[in-house]
Amino acid sequence: MALIETSDLLPGIRQILFNRPEKLNALSTPLMREFETALIEAAADRGVRVIVLRGAGGKAFVAGADIAEYQGDKRAEFIAYQLNSRRVFDMLERIAKPVICAVDGFALGGGFEIALCCDILILADTAQLGLPEGRLGLCPGGGGTQRLVRAVGKYAASDLLLAGWRLSAQRALQLGIAADVVPAEEMDEAILRRARACLKVAPLAAAEMKRLLREGASADIETAKSLEQEVLFRLYSTADGQEGIDAFLEKRDPQFRME
Ligand code: COA
Repeated sequence: MALIETSDLLPGIRQILFNRPEKLNALSTPLMREFETALIEAAADRGVRVIVLRGAGGKAFVAGADIAEYQGDKRAEFIAYQLNSRRVFDMLERIAKPVICAVDGFALGGGFEIALCCDILILADTAQLGLPEGRLGLCPGGGGTQRLVRAVGKYAASDLLLAGWRLSAQRALQLGIAADVVPAEEMDEAILRRARACLKVAPLAAAEMKRLLREGASADIETAKSLEQEVLFRLYSTADGQEGIDAFLEKRDPQFRME
C-alpha cells in the first residue's frame, strides 16, 4: 500500500495523504521519497490550484521522523536524512500554490515542521503541535526552530522547545498559527471551505503573494514595500488582473487563466 495517497477532493484541490497510520504517519525514508514525488507532481500540474496535506487514521497528522531509523549511531544515514528533509521542506514552502495543512491529532517534530512550511493551518480540536526532539536528546533539523520562532516569537517557541510543551489547538489559534479550529468530525467540511476560498483568488496573484510573504519577511521594510509594488504593477497588466477587474464591474465570476 502506498505510504502517500493522492486524490482530488474537487477539481483543482489535490489532497496528499500521509498513509502510515499504524506508526502515526512517521516520516520514514521511503515515505519521504513518495512525499517528495507527490509534491513535485502537484506543483507541476496546472490543474492543481490548492494542495491539502493530511494524515490518515484520525490520530495523527505526522508524529515526526521515524525514530526507529535513528537507532545505532548511523551518522552518515542520519545526516543524509536531515539534509533531505530540509530540502523537501524548503521545496514545500516554495510551492507557488496555496498549501493547506489539516491536522487531526498529533503534529510533532517533522510533522509540525511540515505544518510550519504550509500557508493555512486547519486544526481539529484534538490537534497537538510540538517539537519534542529535546526529549530524545536532539533538536529539530528541518528548519523547525527557525520557522517557529519567526511564526510565534521567542517565548512561545522556548516553551515548546525547552519544556517540550505541546500546543493545543486553542493555543495555536491564540498564537495566530491556526486559521481555524473545528470539531474533528467537521474537518472535511472546514478543509473544503478554505480550499474553495483559495480557488477564488487568482493563481498568479496567490503565487506572487506567497513569495512576498516569504521574501519580504527577511528584507528591510522599504525593500519589501518596493517588491510589493513591483509585483502589483506586473499583476495589473496580466490578463487575469484585467479579467478580475472586468468581472467585478460586470457582476460576474472571473475566469482566471493563469495568464
Ligand atoms: N517514529 C517511529 N515510530 C513512531 C513514532 C515516530 N516518530 N511516533 C509513533 N510511532 C509508533 C509507535 O512506536 C507505535 O508503534 P508500535 O505500535 O509498533 O509500538 C505507534 O506508532 C503508535 O504510537 P504510540 O506511542 O503507541 O501512541 P501513543 O498514543 O501512546 O503516543 C505519541 C503518541 C505521539 C505521544 C508518541 O507516539 C510519541 O511520542 N511519538 C514520538 C514523537 C516524537 O518524538 N517525534 C519527533 C521525532 S524526531
